[in-house]
Amino acid sequence: MSTLATSELIPNHHGSPMTDSSPSATWSGRFDEPVSELVKRYTASIPFDWRLARFDIQGSLAHARMLRHVGILSAEDLAAIEKGLAFIQAEIDAGRFEWQLDQEDIHFNIERRLSQPDLAGEAGKRLHTGRSRNDQVATDIRLWLRDVIDRLQILLANARRALLDQAERHADTVMPGFTHLQAAQPVTFGHHLMAWQEMLARDTERLADCRRRANRLPLGAAALAGTSFAIDREFVMRELGFEGLCENSLDAVSDRDFAIEFLAAGALIMTHLSRMSEEMVLWMTPRFGFIDLPDRFCTGSSIMPQKKNPDVPELMRGKTGRMNGHLVALLTLMKGQPLAYNKDNQEDKEPLFDAADTLLDSLTLFAELVPGIRVQAEAMRRAAVEGFATATDLADYLVRKGLPFREAHEAVARAVRAAEGKGCDLSDLDLEALRAFSPLIGADVYQVLTLEGSLSARDHRGGTAPTQVRAAIARVRQSLG
Ligand code: ARG
Repeated sequence: MSTLATSELIPNHHGSPMTDSSPSATWSGRFDEPVSELVKRYTASIPFDWRLARFDIQGSLAHARMLRHVGILSAEDLAAIEKGLAFIQAEIDAGRFEWQLDQEDIHFNIERRLSQPDLAGEAGKRLHTGRSRNDQVATDIRLWLRDVIDRLQILLANARRALLDQAERHADTVMPGFTHLQAAQPVTFGHHLMAWQEMLARDTERLADCRRRANRLPLGAAALAGTSFAIDREFVMRELGFEGLCENSLDAVSDRDFAIEFLAAGALIMTHLSRMSEEMVLWMTPRFGFIDLPDRFCTGSSIMPQKKNPDVPELMRGKTGRMNGHLVALLTLMKGQPLAYNKDNQEDKEPLFDAADTLLDSLTLFAELVPGIRVQAEAMRRAAVEGFATATDLADYLVRKGLPFREAHEAVARAVRAAEGKGCDLSDLDLEALRAFSPLIGADVYQVLTLEGSLSARDHRGGTAPTQVRAAIARVRQSLG
C-alpha cells in the first residue's frame, strides 16, 4: 500500500530518472577537486528526502512571501518564485521532475530547478536569502511530521471507533480473563476490547502532545546564529501554521528531540498493536478457538494445505521490532552531537520515513481487521467455565458471610481441587459437597458461581459488568464526537 500519493511516481536511487550528470555542486566554488562518486552517493540524501518535496516547497513559499513582506524581494521576484514552485510541484506530482544526485538533497534539487531560466531564473537564486539548508531542513521535517501525525490521528480514531462497535456487539459475551495466561476471572469480550481502546486513547494523547512541541518554527535560525537580514519570523510562523518559534537559533537547527518523541510515541503504538496482534494470533489457534479472522488477512502454506495463518497480525507484531530500532537509532544519532547542525542529522530521515509508513499501514490495517473479528462465543464461554473463573467470586461470597479472606481463599482452593478431580465446574458440585469446604455456604451460592453473576457483580466504573462496559463505550463515543 502506498502511503504517500506521489511515492510511486518518484523514483528512488535505483530508478533511472535520477541522474548524476549535472554540473558541479552548488557549493563547489570553494573546492579544488570534485568528490568521488562514492562520496557523492554517500553524502547525498535525495534518494530518500525527495519525500519532503511538498513541505520544502511550502516552506520556501512562506519564506519568499516573508522576504517580500519585509521588502527584501520585489513583487516580480515573488511572483516568479511562486509560479516556479507551483510548476515544480506539478512536475513532481506528474513524476516528471528530474532528481539529480549531484544536487545532493531535496533543497538543492528544488532550488536548482527553480533557478533555471525557463522557471524563476534570477529570482530563484534570491530565494535562499536569509536562510540556510540547516533551518530549512529542520522546518521541512517538522512540517512533514505534523502532517503525518494528523493522518495518524485520523487512523487512530478509526481504529478506536472499530473497537467501540465490536465492544458494543460483545458487551455481554463472556470470556475468561487471564493473568499469567491462565484463566483468572470472567470478563466480557467487550471489556477486553475496551482495554485495547484505552491503549489507543493514550496513544492519541501522546501524539497530540508530541505535535505541540514539533509545531514550532526553526526558520530564521539560518545556518546556526540567525541572519543579518531584517526578517519577520512571526510572519513565516503564521504562514505555515506553526504555534510558536524555536527560541534559540543553535537549538533550532540541531535538536531532533521532537522526532525522537514521535518515534517513542510510535514505538508505543506499535507495542500496543503488537500485544493486540499477539492475542489475536493466540485466539485464532484451534487450542483457543476464540475468534476467526477473514481470509483476506491470512495466507495459506505452500506445503500444508490445511493451514490458514494470521499473517497480518503476525507481521504487525514483527514490525514493532523495526520501530524500536528506529527509536534507538535516533537517540544514538543525537547523543554525541555538539551544537549546532552536524551532517549526522541527515540520518534522521530514513528511520522517520519508515516509522511513518509502518504506523500508517499498521493502523489502517488494524482498523480494517477489528470489524472482521468473528467471535466464537461458545468457545470463549467453555474456556471460562473450564478455568474455574468464578473461584474468586466464591471466596468473596464467603467473605461476605464473615470468613476472613485468607481462609476463604483456602476453602475455595480445596473446592477447586475437588471439582478438578471430578472433572466438573464449581457450580456442578451440589450444596452438600460445597458445604464440606465451608458450612457458611448456602443455596444462594449458585448465583455467584454463574458467569453472568460474576460479571454483573463487578459493577463500578472500570469494571467488567456489561452495564459498565456499555457506559464506558458511551463515554468514549462522546469524546470521539
Ligand atoms: N540534506 C541535509 C540534511 O538532511 C540538509 C542540510 C544540510 N546542511 C549542511 N550544512 N550540509 O540534514
